[in-house]
Amino acid sequence: MPDLDFKDRLILVVGGAGFVGSNLSLHLLGEDAREVIIVDNLLSADACNIPDHPKVRFIEGSITEGAILEGLPRDLDYVFHLACYHGNQSSIADPLADHENNTLTSLKLFNHLRDFEGLKKVVYSAAGCAVAAKTYGEATATSEDAPVSLYHDSPYSISKLIGELYGNYFHLRHGLPFVKARFQNVYGPGEILGAGRWRGTPATVWRNVTPTFIWKALHQEPLPVENGGIATRDFIFVDDIARGLIACALRGEPGEVYNIASGTEVSILELAEMINELTGSGAPIDLRPARNWDRSGKRYGDPRKAREKLGFKATVDLREGLRRTVAWTRQHGATIERCIVQHHKFLRELETAAE
Ligand SMILES: NC(=O)c1ccc[n+]([C@@H]2O[C@H](COP(=O)([O-])OP(=O)(O)OC[C@H]3O[C@@H](n4cnc5c(N)ncnc54)[C@H](O)[C@@H]3O)[C@@H](O)[C@H]2O)c1
Repeated sequence: MPDLDFKDRLILVVGGAGFVGSNLSLHLLGEDAREVIIVDNLLSADACNIPDHPKVRFIEGSITEGAILEGLPRDLDYVFHLACYHGNQSSIADPLADHENNTLTSLKLFNHLRDFEGLKKVVYSAAGCAVAAKTYGEATATSEDAPVSLYHDSPYSISKLIGELYGNYFHLRHGLPFVKARFQNVYGPGEILGAGRWRGTPATVWRNVTPTFIWKALHQEPLPVENGGIATRDFIFVDDIARGLIACALRGEPGEVYNIASGTEVSILELAEMINELTGSGAPIDLRPARNWDRSGKRYGDPRKAREKLGFKATVDLREGLRRTVAWTRQHGATIERCIVQHHKFLRELETAAE
């Protein structure tokens, strides 16, 4: 009889101090887990995101470290692997750091877990962007079995696919109960701009389009929109992602992959306009040329398989999700400011070098 919830289960969340991982951990605690063990090296996370709860055990360090792997209890019930080298632009600046934190992490973790007998599920956070077709024409919803290109725009994207490939291998060869949750563009409370260590590019601070737009709009700054804002994304609220990961753990079939997507296509221009409206920003939109590394164009995920097989459906619509994220950002302005400021020296050095 498969589990219906996580009551009394022992759970490992790798990357659990991060944006998605900390939100997931809160959900797991709400489901009465016995203990949630978080392993995180705080590379792109701030320690304030780690839930302050008696059932959380935080282990600071990389999951690639032998001592950390050897120290994991053998009676783990569930593992969520969310560690990555955040994000595309930082991985372009330092492909080896990406390899260390985005590929070796997956290989060493799965190899270590391969003979854990009580494991019920290992859920991997795969990336929809690594699979979606590159198009600026009409987008079609990316399904789980869409063809995958061998030509990628970033080491990050390659590493996310390698994680899937290694997990599939350990599933086939060793019976690892491996399930892939493919995310689209996640947004919501808990994504702290500038969280963690400097990773070589301004994307250390400006992690993602939604928190960046909200922060700038709250400061009455113009929102930078590239290429006319015609690119589209499938924005999904972080609580929905946490529920989708949980559905993959409790109901996912080992070896399978599920899109955890809203299935709704929204342009970057629409996002910018909605955020300006919700924050009351009167600043104009700052139209800029396209980014030279980015061919990703228009894309969104096909949510049908997750709906049919897992009973999962995203429930928070974009306007409501943004409203909650704006409120959270207002409340946590001081923390976000602290995390941004720690990179000012590096940002200034980059500006000086470019002059
Ligand atoms: N946020 C999105 O829109 C999105 C979309 C698709 C896929 N994903 C995937 O979801 C996962 C979580 O993303 P996020 O947005 O929460 O990013 P995040 O940067 O907030 O979280 C990643 C976490 O991994 C930790 N980490 C990095 N290297 C590590 C290592 N060697 N050992 C242990 N921990 C390590 C970081 O410190 C951070 O806490 C990632 O795997 C990402 O690729 C995210």
